[in-house]
Amino acid sequence: MSLSFKILIVDQVHPALMEMLASKGIAYEYCPNLGRPEVEAAISGFQGLVIRSKFKVDGAFLQKARHLRLIGRAGAGLDTIDMEAATSHGIQVVHAAEGNADAVGEHTIGLLLMLLNKLAMADQSVRAGHWDREAFRGIELNGKTVGLLGYGNMGTAVAKRLQSFGCTVIAYDKYLEVFPTPFAQKVTLDELKLESQILSLHIPLTEETRQWVNYEFLSSFQKLDFFINTSRGEIVPIEDLLTLLETGFLKGAALDVLPDEPPTTIDKKLSSKYETLFRRPDVILSPHVAGWSLESYEKISCVLGNRLIYHIGQLKN
Ligand code: 3PG
Repeated sequence: MSLSFKILIVDQVHPALMEMLASKGIAYEYCPNLGRPEVEAAISGFQGLVIRSKFKVDGAFLQKARHLRLIGRAGAGLDTIDMEAATSHGIQVVHAAEGNADAVGEHTIGLLLMLLNKLAMADQSVRAGHWDREAFRGIELNGKTVGLLGYGNMGTAVAKRLQSFGCTVIAYDKYLEVFPTPFAQKVTLDELKLESQILSLHIPLTEETRQWVNYEFLSSFQKLDFFINTSRGEIVPIEDLLTLLETGFLKGAALDVLPDEPPTTIDKKLSSKYETLFRRPDVILSPHVAGWSLESYEKISCVLGNRLIYHIGQLKN
């Protein structure tokens, strides 16, 4: 069958993706600097679209995308795509979460070690000329129970690495009947709340998870000391997290993601909460880079390239 297929790539991706498409004779236009109005004007001429997180696909956009059959997300999160609208337009959506899982696994371990060993503050202290060993006595991961909320690509990557630290790793995943890998023990949500001393989030942002991990949710954990979020900031209300730190319920938190990214978009109502959070020595922050390694940049393109080639083949037959 001769369905003509052309892909519009509207964000920066590793050249491996273009090389893979070209090797299969799949036409594409690489336009990472195109503004939204230009994309909207051009999209009716394309059957495929490749995006990253900065490009939102909503119902109004899909109305204009008359010939669109396939959306490729160069990354993991699908929260910027109206999945219901895509399905109702008969558009398939594929992503490349396997491409940044190793990066997220390593970054999460890095945050955890920084948090438990107060490394950011220790570094600042030594640079300031101090030598306060007692203030920077660490806490070991060895022997701790680490709870993972979500056991998909990212949760699995973290669990696999935690194996070598002598931790007990438990995970709750609403959508998995059986865990496909042995790196974490499958537990119920109640068991996760009962046993976790450290909690790490590895769930997508959906209407179900938005603000799910709030004060009520976190305060129902029985032994929780440390909290890590490398998934999406909108899952955790920042004011709730601050309260849990201020009351001493949590001993520390590491956040790669925030509800408002970048912080220049912070609503006035919340700005003092953020300022207080950013001043806390028991909080470690990174700018949404857990999945952003040199290697994942290429791996994401390779995973997505294979997936696009497969689906385009299916659509053509
Ligand atoms: C993802 O979902 O893959 C990460 O959050 C990063 O996505 P981005 O690089 O497209 O912002």
